[in-house]
Amino acid sequence: MKTITPVFPCLVYEDETQDFDLIRDRIIEYAYNQERRYPESNRKSNYGGWQTPNPKFFIDDEGFQFFVDWFGYRIKEYLEYLDYDKEKKYGIEVTSFWFNINRRFDFNISHHHPNSNLAGVLWIKAPKDSGTLVFDSPHEFVESNTMHLQKQNLIDRYLAWERFAVEPKEGNMIIFPSHLRHSVTKNLSTEDRISLAFNLTVSI
Ligand SMILES: [Fe+2]
Repeated sequence: MKTITPVFPCLVYEDETQDFDLIRDRIIEYAYNQERRYPESNRKSNYGGWQTPNPKFFIDDEGFQFFVDWFGYRIKEYLEYLDYDKEKKYGIEVTSFWFNINRRFDFNISHHHPNSNLAGVLWIKAPKDSGTLVFDSPHEFVESNTMHLQKQNLIDRYLAWERFAVEPKEGNMIIFPSHLRHSVTKNLSTEDRISLAFNLTVSI
């Protein structure tokens, strides 16, 4: 008998979050207020657009606590869904939050999130054609020749893609291992695309 086993998968979690409608307008307003208050953007993965200049500065902001509370429930649901071993003691901390406001033709180049274990994003405003999140396979370089030769049906059967694209949807949240490289394609709409990115650190 011959078999193929798809070993070493990366777990990418997506949640169509509950009650996003309750905070949507408020978090959009908060993002624009932050941009007005701190107009100088962080320059990391973003080409154009605005990114929170100091990703830690508003975690303790009183005006942001409505979101922190809502977000805390989403993380609780994430941990329940992953069903971590309750016998093992661990801690999980949100080490940074930052907004990304991408306007027409803005995009984010491929990057990962060092100094954290898990990275995530919540799409706050995601008009049609405003940019797709694209993950690069961690095996893309080392397996490039064999990946190139594989037929699509085998690739799909074993989830052995070179890239994995996720269309943003307002209110959806995604959490993935921080080492997984990703980029955001150009915003081709005339409206703003707003996301809230975050890093989580897990201690054991
Ligand atoms: Fe990112």
